Amino acid sequence: MDEFRIQGGTRLTGRLVVDGSKNAALPLMAASLLTSDPVVLNGIPPLADVRSMDRLLGELGLRVTRSGRTIQLHAQDEQRFHARYDIVKTMRASICTLGPMLARRGRVRISMPGGCAIGDRPVDLHLRGMEALGAKITFDGGDIIAEADRLRGNTIFLGGPFGSTVLGTANVMSAATLAEGTTIIESAACEPEIADLARMLNGMGAKISGAGTPRIMIEGVEGLHGTEHNVLPDRIVAGTLAIAAAITRGDVLLEQFPWDHLLALIDRLNEIGVRIERTDPGEPCERCTVRVTAPDPFKPVLFTTQPYPGYPTDLQAQLMALLCLAEGNSIVTEKIYPDRFMHVPELSRMGARLIRQGSTVVVQGVPELIGAPVMASDLRGSASLIIAGLAAGGETTVSRVYHVDRGYVHLEHQLHHLGAMIERVNAETGEVTSSMPAISTRPMTDVAGPTGQVPAERIRS
Ligand code: EPU
Repeated sequence: MDEFRIQGGTRLTGRLVVDGSKNAALPLMAASLLTSDPVVLNGIPPLADVRSMDRLLGELGLRVTRSGRTIQLHAQDEQRFHARYDIVKTMRASICTLGPMLARRGRVRISMPGGCAIGDRPVDLHLRGMEALGAKITFDGGDIIAEADRLRGNTIFLGGPFGSTVLGTANVMSAATLAEGTTIIESAACEPEIADLARMLNGMGAKISGAGTPRIMIEGVEGLHGTEHNVLPDRIVAGTLAIAAAITRGDVLLEQFPWDHLLALIDRLNEIGVRIERTDPGEPCERCTVRVTAPDPFKPVLFTTQPYPGYPTDLQAQLMALLCLAEGNSIVTEKIYPDRFMHVPELSRMGARLIRQGSTVVVQGVPELIGAPVMASDLRGSASLIIAGLAAGGETTVSRVYHVDRGYVHLEHQLHHLGAMIERVNAETGEVTSSMPAISTRPMTDVAGPTGQVPAERIRS
């Protein structure tokens, strides 16, 4: 198992391009099950979860071919219908094959996703949606079996106790494209990944309107054809990199930054005193360039995670790491996954002062964090420990970084490119598995802020 070894205290500087979105890519890939024609997706990040989806779609009869960040998905055998436990257990997002399989093949057997480190993640709303479209749902040996001759449009309410469901909305919307008649999804998830999926489905001949709002209307069609689609930039990766730049008081340019999708984060960062500015106001807002700097002391803030356009749960842990160094008390409330706090005891090992009460954490800012061995337990929590390690004095080792590899493409390379002293090490042998040149040899001209280079005296090497 690999771990990251980080020598904290180095300011991040330079320029990075934000990768394509994992959470957009997975339902887009699954939606290719809706047609027998090839579907081409550009900008797919080479991540562990994407490879799991490749494997699952391969088992479901698609040929998956990859060239760089472009993949082509082409149905070869549409008789297959079983998404086995071995694959589903590695990735909960396997559930987004449910709707496309049911709509196109009339039958799907998919292992019920099991427990998850970030808390309960039921799929009742997905199943309720499929039933409303006319599917018969049964359970056998830990599998969900859904069957229907042809789905029928209906009005479906997808609100749950924690708001709507993102992948549930993706499932129902995808399935309804091939249903007879019109489907209306009320209390639909408004996340940009849903609007992106609707764009791709419409490119395949679907008739969807309202995606990105709480009311989506889908007029069923007889069939869908192939398409080519560019995946959105990853708003969670973009936000993680912006917070990493801020906590090191860096000066970083991020290209392909989905500004419009991150307004809640930008608002909180501005309140904290982090400067995040667009450098190209003329460009489309889903893919712009921003400069992140943080010259002032961090101010404490309150934030609450909410469904989009509220503050995203997938950036809760990372912003908490930054608030550990604010001058005063911050309050973080988690309203999507009330137990998503595995990073809290680990941040405390680094000197953070955190008091958790239920789904709220009070963060008492401290002047500094101290490097320590810490353990990652989930994807975004791991990112927060790495962010904390970048700012902490001394060495931090973050173990079990396979979690972070699920959602970030070689995060250690990206951070090293910005000057961080970070390496990937095999925890059993101690061998460095991705070594990079010492940061003092990095050319200063990497820093390309619009107002010129960062003064050399502010760079620690
Ligand atoms: N929920 C239900 N019933 C359901 C489905 C969900 O009660 O049938 C509840 C969940 O327990 C949760 C809330 O509704 O409290 C929202 O869950 P949602 O279904 O929206 O989550 P998801 O679609 O399974 C996606 C992302 C997650 C992200 C959430 C919320 C993907 C592959 N995953 O999950 O991303 O946290 O939306 O925004 O898109 C991550 O990337 O680290 C990650 C966990």
